[in-house]
Amino acid sequence: MSIVKINALTVPAEQREVLEQRFSARKGIVETADGFEWFELLRPLEGTDQYLVYTRWRDEEAFQAWMNGSMKEAHQGGGSGERPKPAATGSETWSFEVVQQAPPK
Ligand code: HEM
Repeated sequence: MSIVKINALTVPAEQREVLEQRFSARKGIVETADGFEWFELLRPLEGTDQYLVYTRWRDEEAFQAWMNGSMKEAHQGGGSGERPKPAATGSETWSFEVVQQAPPK
């Protein structure tokens, strides 16, 4: 079964728009990675100030290959020159294994 890697970004209320705009301008490179299965940016509605970058992969090897390859390019922001100040004040990465899944009947 697949694995899920979530990057949890702590984003202060006044930086939400900045973060979402950065993702709107994201490069869409991850979609082309071997073993990539799904991406979602999840905006918190209540209970946390963490946005979740949800990604699902065929296996750990596929995720590691992306991390060691085009992940860096995907995180280089808009263009050349200096990287803008990060919108997030913190981040942590969580790993899960898919145990069960079901589409609607
Ligand atoms: C220091 C930690 C990290 C921070 C602060 C961060 C933040 C961001 C930001 C702001 C973007 C939007 C594009 C940009 O402005 O660069 C982005 C893109 C993305 N991030 Fe991260 N990220 C981090 C690490 C990770 C990790 C470990 C994962 C793996 C789950 C991940 C998954 C993604 C994906 C899938 C995209 C979209 C890339 C694409 O379109 O190709 N990020 N990240």
